[in-house]
Amino acid sequence: MSSTSKENTAVEQQDHGQENQGGQGKQSPEEIKRGRFLTLVSLGLTGFATTVVALPVIGSFLGSLLVQPPAGVWRRLGKVDDFKRGGTLLVSYKNAGALPWGGVSDKSGAWLRRNTDDSFIAFSVNCQHLGCPVRWVSQAELFECPCHGGIYYADGSVAAGPPPKSLQKYPVRVRSGHVDLFTSPIPLPGLSKSSG
Ligand code: FES
Repeated sequence: MSSTSKENTAVEQQDHGQENQGGQGKQSPEEIKRGRFLTLVSLGLTGFATTVVALPVIGSFLGSLLVQPPAGVWRRLGKVDDFKRGGTLLVSYKNAGALPWGGVSDKSGAWLRRNTDDSFIAFSVNCQHLGCPVRWVSQAELFECPCHGGIYYADGSVAAGPPPKSLQKYPVRVRSGHVDLFTSPIPLPGLSKSSG
């Protein structure tokens, strides 16, 4: 075979190879339609899955913005005569915004002191230093904090130790022969404005 005919044969083989490659890259209209359909299905499923995952998060966020807890509520503590004059007693009450299934976790305590016939004063059980529960020592007429030795007088003011200020007080009233305590919702970190 001459060199010219060898070259012609090589060129023909190359052309033939390129034709084959072009044939493999081409897609029929049905294949293009199927590809588009699968792409749409894939996008739809991705969107649906994203919505399913995101909905509870969005709902929770909007709920916290739209559903405001009650500003506060009066809780009945008992009859006036259930409390001794000059006595201080630990009382329990439901928090504001308590849920039906909250159980004991939706309850708080306070120290209730009866000064005169219809004069009551309620103190938070939490120490103003680091929040430990204080206890009433009737013999000494003092509140004691077991954590760091904080001491408060019967009126809640600081007697000794590290507490920087008096025990927090809650509003109390007497209605129809009963004692009521006003309780506010417990602030949640990040959701409440600073109360100072
Ligand atoms: S927490 Fe009460 S004295 Fe420290």
